[in-house]
Amino acid sequence: MQDDRLISSSLQEEDAKNEYSIRPHFLSEYIGQESVKEHMQIYIAAAKARGESLDHALLYGPPGLGKTTLAGIIANEMGVSLRVTSGPAITHAGDLAALLTNLSPGDVLFIDEIHRLNPNVEEVLYPAMEDFALDIIIGKGPGARSIRLDLPRFTLIGATTRLGMLSSPLRDRFGIKEQLELYSPESLKEIVTRSAEILHIDIDEEGALEIASRSRGTPRIANRLLRRVRDYSQVRGNGVIDLETAQGALGMLKIDELGLDAVDRKMLTAMIETFRGGPVGLDTIAAYTGEDAGTVEDVYEPYLLKLGFIARTTRGRVVLPDAYRHLDYPVPVTVQQERLEV
Ligand code: ADE
Repeated sequence: MQDDRLISSSLQEEDAKNEYSIRPHFLSEYIGQESVKEHMQIYIAAAKARGESLDHALLYGPPGLGKTTLAGIIANEMGVSLRVTSGPAITHAGDLAALLTNLSPGDVLFIDEIHRLNPNVEEVLYPAMEDFALDIIIGKGPGARSIRLDLPRFTLIGATTRLGMLSSPLRDRFGIKEQLELYSPESLKEIVTRSAEILHIDIDEEGALEIASRSRGTPRIANRLLRRVRDYSQVRGNGVIDLETAQGALGMLKIDELGLDAVDRKMLTAMIETFRGGPVGLDTIAAYTGEDAGTVEDVYEPYLLKLGFIARTTRGRVVLPDAYRHLDYPVPVTVQQERLEV
């Protein structure tokens, strides 16, 4: 479905323009994800010192956390060019062959949503990643033969929101695997402050923290909310974003103190009222929210899990006491006891 929720973490058209202008270019400008940064700093320095290309890297985690941004930074720090594509965009093996043969030595090829690669294309990728070679079949039937074409040594950076959907041969061909995690409100506050500076938006510390706290741990959402709060402050305030304007704007947009919107509340309310707090199957939750199961799992659940509002059990999802309290429901005694065992 078309995902135009204000707190959606999928890339919307306006974000694409905006993200480009505020995207950091160096690891030193990239906020948060400390262990990923530390690892990448070492791998990049070592590869450069050896005069080699960087090992293939797989970045995984929920959408909107800066996987594309990080790929751009890695290419930049390595001093090479970046080519960007995505799994669904490469429909034929020939498309991938065209991309690969156009790379220069050391270049980074970034494939977003790599779990959605067509299996025929994936087959071509294996020798390309492992041996930097393309196996091309010429002719058909008994007379067909295969010729091997050498490729420049390149770095593949794959990004996925669904590590479990990657085939294991593909997963195993990445020497570097890094998981991106949801950001803390403090890191998001720094990101909002940095973006505001670049976009010449006046914002104070409390205003930045308020936007950060309601952004579901996701920079893409934080930067989007910053633009909406700026609009509100221009029209209803004096153009400066402080705590009051941030609260006013986000309240108007029905995004609560924790960043939950109407869809999250609908989902939790249905789980509480209709299913007595669960366990509820993923497909049932998806039907109630009008999203597909994959989207619920990748996009909506990570933040609710991080908040400790829901838990995944073998029998389905259950609502935890903090979610009852947040939505002003009494916590049933059975839930208080049962959930201790989750
Ligand atoms: N924009 C998106 N993600 C970012 C990050 N981690 N640091 C700085 N700016 C960002």
